[in-house]
Amino acid sequence: MGSPVVLGIESSCDETGAGLVRDGRLLGHALASSMDEHARFGGVVPEIAARAHVHALTPVVRGALADAGLRAADIGAVAVTTGPGLSGALQVGLAGAKGLAYALGVPLYGVHHLAGHVAADTLEHGPLPDPCVVLIVSGGHTSLLLVRDLARDRIVHLGDTLDDAAGECFDKVARVFGLPYPGGPAIDRAARVGDPRAVPFPRPLTTGGPGNRFAFSFSGLKTAAARWAESHHAAGRALPVADGAAALQEAIADVLTRKAVAACAEHGVRTLVVVGGVAANSRVRTLAEERCAAAGITLRVPPLRLCTDNGAMIAAVGDLLVRAGAAPAPLDVSIDPSAPL
Ligand code: KG4
Ligand code: ZN
Repeated sequence: MGSPVVLGIESSCDETGAGLVRDGRLLGHALASSMDEHARFGGVVPEIAARAHVHALTPVVRGALADAGLRAADIGAVAVTTGPGLSGALQVGLAGAKGLAYALGVPLYGVHHLAGHVAADTLEHGPLPDPCVVLIVSGGHTSLLLVRDLARDRIVHLGDTLDDAAGECFDKVARVFGLPYPGGPAIDRAARVGDPRAVPFPRPLTTGGPGNRFAFSFSGLKTAAARWAESHHAAGRALPVADGAAALQEAIADVLTRKAVAACAEHGVRTLVVVGGVAANSRVRTLAEERCAAAGITLRVPPLRLCTDNGAMIAAVGDLLVRAGAAPAPLDVSIDPSAPL
């Protein structure tokens, strides 16, 4: 008898995702997004997100089963994001997961959203080498981790952002530049025809101090970009958005990849894994490739569809937990909106 099919459910922000994984293999998945409903507000509205999850959850689980050619009775375990994330949104996914686990008589596993982002890469590239350095860059987090064993929580934090996350910086600056939500992909598109050397944006904490060599800070960069935009508006000049976008993207990609490669060197690690929504950024990907190649480091980045929030990545952690013999969660497990990793 092999390991069970694990259903993963993700609902921490504006994506409702379901995925089915067995033995490190993705069998099927489905995703719904309420992104369009938030666009006119310029950011995710928690109440709208929670309501959208209520509508999307059952169709998304059915969609993942159909994608895999499986029936509900084939599910052997349920994994669900318990945090971090928006509390109302998390509640919907957890309630659905509990109901399913109870009805099917299968174990339930609570999953940390960031562990999900890390595990996403295993669905494409196989088990993570021990050790590896992981750069998590999303809308809410920017962290460098030394990962030994994800399923057994053998993870060391090397550095985190001291203020804004990299994705937050993309999103907020995009708004100031008049680009649509979500800002990251919009900056990426606008930057294609821009000159990254056109604006000398700062490279915050490039080296860092003794205690925070691997810490990040993006609020100064966000302010510099806002000032640059304001100076054009005040002088009545049109904003060269493509140049601003290219320069901002270059500054973020430069700091992220420089620190990630330095962390590998410091810890004698040969593999860097870059995950999270910002790992979808074209400049982050190419600069990481260049710098890893120059340093003799193997770079792993999940395919675009697995970089942003999805259910498959939560199923991937559930599958690792099941195979590691981890204890399931009790049926009265709660969400933890600000869960530390
Ligand atoms: O991981 P994710 O889907 O959700 C969170 O857990 O936060 O990340 C979303 C973030 C947003 O800030 C979004 O703007 C950013 O990832 N993002 C990008 C790109 N695609 C998504 N940032 C830069 N370039 C992109 N191509
Ligand atoms: Zn995420």
